[in-house]
Amino acid sequence: MSDIAVVGSLNIDLVIRAPHCPGKGETLIGGAFGMAGGGKGSNQALAAARLSATSHIIGCVGSDDFGRKLKSVLTENGVDCSQLRTMNKAPTGTAVITVTDDGGNSVIISQGANSLLDENAMTKAENIFESSDAALFQMESPAKTVIKGLKLSRRHGCRTFLSAEPPFSLPPDSWNDIDYLILNERALSFYAGRRNHKSVSEMAQEILKRGVKCLVVTQSAKGGMIFCKGGDDFAFDSFNIRSVDNTGARDAFCAGFCVGLCEGMPLKIAARFGSACGALACTKIGAHPSMPWRHQVSALLGEAHGDDYEL
Ligand code: RIB
Repeated sequence: MSDIAVVGSLNIDLVIRAPHCPGKGETLIGGAFGMAGGGKGSNQALAAARLSATSHIIGCVGSDDFGRKLKSVLTENGVDCSQLRTMNKAPTGTAVITVTDDGGNSVIISQGANSLLDENAMTKAENIFESSDAALFQMESPAKTVIKGLKLSRRHGCRTFLSAEPPFSLPPDSWNDIDYLILNERALSFYAGRRNHKSVSEMAQEILKRGVKCLVVTQSAKGGMIFCKGGDDFAFDSFNIRSVDNTGARDAFCAGFCVGLCEGMPLKIAARFGSACGALACTKIGAHPSMPWRHQVSALLGEAHGDDYEL
């Protein structure tokens, strides 16, 4: 069993279905409204636990009903919340999400208590980094916190995964602290300097030169590509599913990919495992409700490859 620390955000997602994302000045009559647990950190911690990892969340919620709800859902799913702090100075983070009829989404976040996750919280979590196989980070937490967390994890020999969304600039000496950098194509262009005339592969090579060990570029329904220092580049496929809501799909991918590698799966198999997790997360509405369970992932992989598929 793998042991994974997740440093990051916890939100309550307020979701409305709509035919398309509203444009500037547009009032749109949408469809059903729903509320669900979310936040990239909490989605990843929940997914890791459902995939059978020992999972720890390091984050902040407000002292309100949303915060209590998030903590209880994570606890019920077996996530260790000993480093989940309840803050009085800010409400629990909130995300307002439009889910369009084609299963796509747009998200706006009010960070709330997530903005209070400070560097001190990383120092307090050192014992968790020390005993974990991997630490997963995203970018809905303050930059200084993420940078410090990466450094401390690295110091304790814990493999680091950064899902860089929404991307912010990193200082030159932080790149070396990242084992696996997971980017979508928008974040890839951001880090490669928005030189869009370059190919994905050219942009990836530029980023690898900064010190990252492996770069994963996720491409939604197209699957993705992996580039590693001194290794072969390869593409991985997505699964053919009917997407009803892709909110949290990248989080499920990141958790699955991380769990897979920590369990000793070869890179290509871990990417396939992560991809199955991402696909399953698109088949249900809401982030938390759609984070996949291990048996669902095994079933999807078995269906796609037959029973001889080795994990
Ligand atoms: O990655 C999906 C998540 O992004 C949502 O759950 C929302 O809360 C935002 O953090």
